[in-house]
Amino acid sequence: MDSRRTIYITGASTGIGAATARAAVAQGWAVVGLARSKARLGALADELGDAFLAVAGDVAAQADQARAVEAGIERFGRLDAAFANAGLGASVPGTEAGDPENWRQMIDVNIWGALLTAKVALPALRGRRGHFLVTGSRAGRVSLKGSVYGATKWFVHGWAANLAEEMREWGGRCTVIAPGMVDTPFFDSPRPEGLRAEDVARAVLYALEQPPGMAVGEVTLMPNPAGAQETP
Ligand SMILES: NC(=O)c1ccc[n+]([C@@H]2O[C@H](COP(=O)([O-])OP(=O)(O)OC[C@H]3O[C@@H](n4cnc5c(N)ncnc54)[C@H](OP(=O)(O)O)[C@@H]3O)[C@@H](O)[C@H]2O)c1
Repeated sequence: MDSRRTIYITGASTGIGAATARAAVAQGWAVVGLARSKARLGALADELGDAFLAVAGDVAAQADQARAVEAGIERFGRLDAAFANAGLGASVPGTEAGDPENWRQMIDVNIWGALLTAKVALPALRGRRGHFLVTGSRAGRVSLKGSVYGATKWFVHGWAANLAEEMREWGGRCTVIAPGMVDTPFFDSPRPEGLRAEDVARAVLYALEQPPGMAVGEVTLMPNPAGAQETP
């Protein structure tokens, strides 16, 4: 068996998922990364070498996620953690103006995809008293005018709290990573006032690296642009 702890990350091709893959490999983890974009995953695999296994697939397809977990266990021999991170936002904000097709995509990826990540990973995680993490959001903690995206994240926060209780029975841990705005391809234009994807990756590693007797339930991160300015 490979001695490296192994984490399965969805939405690993860009943004928070790719930054977490880099941070985890730097900390000695092996990573199985799933996303739809073969080209971006391939570039990350070239960068990270044999510690990264790229699996092209759709989080909304249970067979794709099952294949990723199986391939990871075959390659690295174990699964210690899973990070349900794939997600997408609203093409048009609000409910009255919103696009139902886009709502379906958000529900498929942000809710259904995260549920499937748990479904396929939990049997292996149980064997290692493992860790499940999921990307929630500040938008899953506050009321945002008409936001269907925010409501998908309210689901994530509520469900993850319930899953934490289920996993606790066998010594597993469940953590919600809840960032405010992060400057990633999630947005069509740069968000320099936001967090960096690397900031969120550090929060994931913080939760992962705690001693097994301690469970981090939720990590909230907010940008603090004024704090980044030089002290007068
Ligand atoms: N950026 C923010 O301000 C912010 C704040 C709070 C929470 N979040 C959450 O953070 C998570 C990551 O977002 P990000 O900011 O890093 O944005 P991002 O750079 O757009 O990353 C989204 C990732 O999800 C993948 N993905 C989307 N649909 C998929 C599908 N059907 N199957 C497989 N993978 C899929 C994308 O890869 P492919 O396109 O290659 O499939 C990509 O790797 C999301 O859950 C998002 O809701 C973001």
